[in-house]
Amino acid sequence: NGSVGSMGLSTLASVRPNFKLSAADVGGFVSDPAEELVAPSEAFRQRALVASRAQYDEMYKRSVEDPDGFWGDIASTFFWKKKWPTTEGKLYSENIDVRTGRVAVEWFKGGQTNICYNALDRHVEAGFGDKVAFFWEGNDTGVDATLTYKEVLERVCQLANYLRSQGVKKGDAVAIYMPMLAELPIAMLACARIGAVHSVVFAGFSAESLSQRILDCKPNIILTSSAVKRAAKVIKLKDIVDDALKTAAENGHSVGLCLTYDNNSALKREDTAWQEGRDVWWQDVVPSHSKECEVEWVDAEDTLFLLYTSGSTGKPKGVLHTTGGYMVYAATTFKYAFNYHEDDVYWCTADCGWITGHSYLTYGPLLNGASMVVFEGVPNYPDAGRCWEIVDKYNVTIFYTAPTAIRSLMRSGDEPVKRHSRKSLRVLGSVGEPINPSAWKWYYEVVGDKRCPIVDTWWQTETGGFMITPLPGAWCLKPGSATLPFFGIQPAVVDENGHAQTGECSGYLCIKAAWPGMMRTLQGDHDRYETTYFAPFKGYYFSGDGCRRDKDGFYWLTGRVDDVINVSGHRIGTAEVESALVSHPQCAEAAVVGFDHEVKGQGIFAFVTLLEFVEYSDELRTALVNAVRSQIGAFAAPDVIHWAPGLPKTRSGKIMRRILRKIASNQLDELGDISTLADTSVVDQLISLRGK
Ligand code: PRX
Repeated sequence: NGSVGSMGLSTLASVRPNFKLSAADVGGFVSDPAEELVAPSEAFRQRALVASRAQYDEMYKRSVEDPDGFWGDIASTFFWKKKWPTTEGKLYSENIDVRTGRVAVEWFKGGQTNICYNALDRHVEAGFGDKVAFFWEGNDTGVDATLTYKEVLERVCQLANYLRSQGVKKGDAVAIYMPMLAELPIAMLACARIGAVHSVVFAGFSAESLSQRILDCKPNIILTSSAVKRAAKVIKLKDIVDDALKTAAENGHSVGLCLTYDNNSALKREDTAWQEGRDVWWQDVVPSHSKECEVEWVDAEDTLFLLYTSGSTGKPKGVLHTTGGYMVYAATTFKYAFNYHEDDVYWCTADCGWITGHSYLTYGPLLNGASMVVFEGVPNYPDAGRCWEIVDKYNVTIFYTAPTAIRSLMRSGDEPVKRHSRKSLRVLGSVGEPINPSAWKWYYEVVGDKRCPIVDTWWQTETGGFMITPLPGAWCLKPGSATLPFFGIQPAVVDENGHAQTGECSGYLCIKAAWPGMMRTLQGDHDRYETTYFAPFKGYYFSGDGCRRDKDGFYWLTGRVDDVINVSGHRIGTAEVESALVSHPQCAEAAVVGFDHEVKGQGIFAFVTLLEFVEYSDELRTALVNAVRSQIGAFAAPDVIHWAPGLPKTRSGKIMRRILRKIASNQLDELGDISTLADTSVVDQLISLRGK
């Protein structure tokens, strides 16, 4: 074993085109012309919620022809304090065509509900209070805890009451910078309960990134933890928060309260940096509050959360999701894509700091009343068998992770997997980047013993939930394809002129018509929302991804077509990395591109031009990498710093990234036409500096 990505990744080499490549180039990715089909087993089909293609076709048809009926019926299974008005017939309104006015999408407007109530109280009131909600598994083996629905509800209420006592009210932003303790989803739910808007920042982001997000959404309170142990390392989160709050204050926004969870297994209380008057220990104040807390009923279109994500320009975008449509969509996609049943035990390895942790670690599963594993650690600590040990420990039936984790576990061979039984597993999910067929097959054959369908879910922070995904049990899978659209989703593969193509084709993946879970705007910047997503191809939502549709109508995602790199399933804007690099006093200019990476999917390759008379050195290289670590986070650290006396630019000064991509991936005979460069000699210079 260990032949990581041999087939898929080498083929993937051609699929990261820049935005200018033709649609034909985007479709260059056909991994396996022989087209293996993997059919669901009879046993699986018997328990499938959607058990045939015909059943799907019928449901899909209704979902696009009669969205009111389709989504209205599903929404009616949730609790609404006040049902959405139906007098005008429609339960949604949309304009996603920039030619006919401002982009505006609303679902269930006028209806009143609360997502926390639907995720917790509803189940407790129905008699499921003693069902386990969280099997919390710590970073170190043997450290764990179990919380029932009733217990989670009580903790949520206590925190919600505390937040209220501190003046947090409906519509206020609350920043959350926490590790994967059970208190993280609890914090999100507590905000939702009182109508506050949570803004979770992944606890791997640097102080600089955190302060930037704080300055954008201006919370008065931040929730954090003293520290976290990740694998063998202790990370002092509170120090990072302190730095971030300082920077935010210097730039005009002071956060008055920092509620800090005492994670004393990672760091002692007395060793935690402290600012009297601002900092409060969670355990000192929250448990004394009542375990009951009145729900704040909110409009379906009231904001539920903000989540920042990278775009092709420097500043991260605050993706804004509202309550009603998101709730219905997250729950429904979870149920059908994972073929969820009441007796399932679900485990998603994502962190709540990303959208996957919002929709499929918190809201989607809880809305369905699922029992789930919440894991603090990393997949290969203390060894490569940890995941399967956890699967056996809790009898996990649905396991959801990212291709990068699969590839990294593949490297350790089959033994750590086979050491554990995994017989409880029923469904295996994948998310975050295209899964190369060789990783798909290893996941299917070795992890799932050829018994469990692979649910390759394509979606985005912006989409709120799954867009293209198998419904396991309903049709055959093809390794590497996300297969078919979810209910209500109308994908369009458009060419560079914005024309939707028919039949077998490749091009830019767009979506026609709105769906309940889509983002409503970007925090404070509706213009950017329109220009980024709706202006490139008029009449459509543009995903930023390329794709191919095959003769069976299956979709094959081929990666980003903009200046966004997908590193280990994390979206990183090249512009963000470049701006971090040029913040170094000796850096004059930087250009960043992605290159194929065996485990991460894509790695970061940075071309750096230094100021005149500055000499190349390894120390400088380290300092540049550290600049990125401190401005964005360790996960965005460049893999390669390549010295560049000059960058290939057109006469109008535009950097030709196409050429840089070829140099980064060592495809020197495929540089293409370089005659439009202002100075063609820079290309030779760059090539001569490879490996230097
Ligand atoms: O390029 C696609 C890739 O991840 C991007 C979205 O990233 P983010 O908003 O951070 O959300 C990640 C979790 C949903 C997409 O534009 N992507 C995500 N899932 C897949 C994928 N690419 C191919 N196949 C997938 N299953």
